[in-house]
Formats: sequence, C-alpha cells, structure tokens
Amino acid sequence: MSDPIIKFDKVVKRFGDLTVLDALDFEVMRGEKVSIIGPSGSGKSTVLRILMTLEGIDGGLVTVGGEPLWHEPGPDGLRPASEAHLRKMRAQLGMVFQQFNLFPHMTVLRNITEAPVKVLGLSKADAKLRAEELLERVGLADQAQKYPHQLSGGQQQRVGIARALAMRPSILLFDEPTSALDPELVGEVLNVIGQLAEEHDLTMLLVTHEMRFAREISDRVCFFDQGQIREEGTPEELFSDPNEDRTREFLKAVLD
Ligand SMILES: Nc1ncnc2c1ncn2[C@@H]1O[C@H](COP(=O)(O)OP(=O)(O)O)[C@@H](O)[C@H]1O
Ligand SMILES: [Mg+2]
Repeated sequence: MSDPIIKFDKVVKRFGDLTVLDALDFEVMRGEKVSIIGPSGSGKSTVLRILMTLEGIDGGLVTVGGEPLWHEPGPDGLRPASEAHLRKMRAQLGMVFQQFNLFPHMTVLRNITEAPVKVLGLSKADAKLRAEELLERVGLADQAQKYPHQLSGGQQQRVGIARALAMRPSILLFDEPTSALDPELVGEVLNVIGQLAEEHDLTMLLVTHEMRFAREISDRVCFFDQGQIREEGTPEELFSDPNEDRTREFLKAVLD
C-alpha cells in the first residue's frame, strides 16, 4: 500500500439545488478494503456511481490509479474527459449493485461473458472459460444455463459478483449488496465477498449496513454524513470507540 488508487480531491456533486458531496476528500490505497457506512441520503452511492462513471462531478478532481477520471490532459490543462477516456478508466472498476442489475433476457453465462466479449474483445470461448471459472468460485457452476428469474436473490447477487470479476477489475465496488436479500440469503453472499477480501491485490470499497461484516473484513471504515466523511478509522476504533457523537448515535441506531 503506497499511492492511493482512488482519490477524491475536494469533489463537489450537486443534483439541482442539492449539494450531495461538499468538497469531499477521500482516499483509498491499493489493496485496501474500505467500508462506507452512514445514514440514507448521505452520498454513499453517489461516491460509487461517480467512480463507476455513472455520475459526473461539478467540482474538484477524482483520480483512479493516479490518472484523472472525469478529466483528461488537453493543450490548456485538464479538460472534461472524452467517452474514450471514460471507457478506458472504467475498465479498472467493477460494481455490484443492490438490485443485482442482471440482464433478464440473458442466461447466467451470457450475463458474465457479454462485457468481456463486447468491451475487452475476448473470444467467446475464452470468455466462457473465464465465466465458468468464476461461477465455480461463487458456487454456481451448475447454474450457467439458467435465467436470472430462475435463481434466488442470493444466487443472482453471486452472478452479479462473478459478472463484475469477469472484467478483471483492480477495484471492486459494492453498493449495499445484501440489502435487497431475504435474511437467510445474506450469508452466502457475504461469504463470497469475504473470500474476495482475502485477495491481497484487489481494492474493495463496500457500502453496507452489515456492521459486523464490515468490522470483520475492513482495513478501514468511513462514516459518511451529509456528503462528508464525519469520522474514519480502523474497525476497532470506529465501532468500539468512536470520537464523534454523530457516529455514536448512528451506530446505536443501527446496532440496536
Ligand atoms: N439522480 C438523482 N437526482 C436527484 N437527486 C439524487 C439523485 N441521486 C441521488 N440523489 C440525492 O442525493 C442524495 C444522496 O444520495 P445517495 O448517494 O444515493 O445516498 P446514500 O447512498 O447514502 O443513501 C439523496 O438526497 C438523494 O435523494
Ligand atoms: Mg445508497
């Protein structure tokens, strides 16, 4: 862990009159596993969506792997990124969504091979091999020919994880990956994420309400409040001995 692989430098994000991120400074080191917790509406998903290039920014600078994400060098300094630049940058990241966002009309296998073929230019045969390996890894080797609606929520989310990994991202983003699941299906998804967290090189940024899980797997936990990091620290510091009243109130509310 040396240079930050993700850096938000005074990033501003607005929706109309609403300032969602207010000069946010935030860094993640290569290989670091960081959890983001905080109240609904505090800007957690917005941070992930900006990184995934699904939302632009209104001020400041985001860098990924040391390169500006939403800007690129031009003759007179930085200018807004072109679609080609965004596409290149996006290839470093994968995202797992709360609502899985699988393609409903494609088989599980096709859900996973689609982007590697279309975006990375892999041959169909290579993409299939890669998908089969990943399905094995998330415990779904026998489900390749099913359609999403034929699977449980937990299985669908494990396909979502396999799909993100198929692009071989160096950064994996999770946006409340278990909050749409029935309670009895949460464990199987957390197990898969927990295994990924043991990978030394993979950088993980996880928005979650699963406090016990965040505590187990994170190197660092950030408490978001109103578009700012109100407090951050090791899981031990943040969960056992928070400095801020606001953090303490939040934890009390979610842990009770
Ligand atoms: N596309 C959008 N248009 C307008 N407001 C939005 C949009 N996306 C998010 N917001 C608002 O921005 C704030 C932060 O949203 P979000 O990042 O989703 O919060 P969180 O994930 O912490 O619950 C919320 O008030 C939300 O309503
Ligand atoms: Mg959210």
